[in-house]
Amino acid sequence: MQEELARWRETALAAIAGASSLPELDAVRVRLLGRKGELTARLRALGELPPEERPAAGAALNRLRRDLETALADRRAELQDAADAVAAAGVDLTLPGRPPAALGGRHPLTAIIAEICEIFRGLGYRVAEGPDVELDYYNFKALNFPDDHPARDIQDTFYIDDVMLLRTQTSPVQVRVMEQEQPPLAVIVPGRVYRNEAVDASHAAEFYQVEGLYVDRDVSLADLRATVVAFLQQLFGRDVTIRFRPHYFPFTEPSVEVDMSCFACGGKGCNVCGRTGWIEIMGAGMVHPNVFAAAGYPADAYTGFAFGLGIDRIAMLRHGIDDIRLFYENDWRFLQQFRGLA
Ligand code: PHE
Repeated sequence: MQEELARWRETALAAIAGASSLPELDAVRVRLLGRKGELTARLRALGELPPEERPAAGAALNRLRRDLETALADRRAELQDAADAVAAAGVDLTLPGRPPAALGGRHPLTAIIAEICEIFRGLGYRVAEGPDVELDYYNFKALNFPDDHPARDIQDTFYIDDVMLLRTQTSPVQVRVMEQEQPPLAVIVPGRVYRNEAVDASHAAEFYQVEGLYVDRDVSLADLRATVVAFLQQLFGRDVTIRFRPHYFPFTEPSVEVDMSCFACGGKGCNVCGRTGWIEIMGAGMVHPNVFAAAGYPADAYTGFAFGLGIDRIAMLRHGIDDIRLFYENDWRFLQQFRGLA
């Protein structure tokens, strides 16, 4: 009997200590000491004991009641103190939780690609895409790179087999589009390209280009010039001048490299442009007749221009980033600086 009572005492004290809020504690009190509670039941049961045992048993139950009352009061004071401290700290537990602070955002390259496509959409261009795993035919042959011609060495190619490779440029999409459509056509082609290069701060083995192609009757180099200026002015948000430097690409003739006046200093010379006042921005030229022929266009019917620009370089210039590898490491400390980009 005494042992049973001692066990009940322990569980009752544990229930009191375990109550984690004032309402919970009150429920424990009612269960233990209430009029229909466990202690009352035990007091009633005294009547079933032999008369000589009743006084001692009754006294034991009364001591137990006092102990439990003391424990309840102590626990109530503790819980009340904790509630007071929360209130004093100005914490309103009824407020809804805070939304997560760290929402993701666009990768800086994705953001620039979207921006460039948007500018060209405004100029009447449509966005097209082609495969990353490309046929040698589209990446080289149809673009007027002769077989076994050293011009193929211009771009260090990752070959997959004799006929397939990872595209080294977005230019193959020029031919894919022209095979499907007749002029007039104006497309812009963003995409990833691959070159087997030694990786350093300014060279990655994978990077992004945007290709542009405009074909119609009587398209001239002057149209290319006007288009590039309109584009760069919108992208960099200031007046720019450009200059063409003669260059060689197998798929354009004439071919040029385009420099723009430095968007940071306006051409005076600064750190961004290496004090030259000029920034090399893209390769371009008039579509070579052999490329039209590969696409199945009739000879001498059309003219057009094409250009290709490196997205990574533009993003680096724009954000003052000095190492291309940062774009591909997915380091949160780097990426979070661009969270606001639309
Ligand atoms: N495909 C060329 C390159 O990757 C760029 C280019 C595109 C040049 C279109 C002329 C016309 O270097």
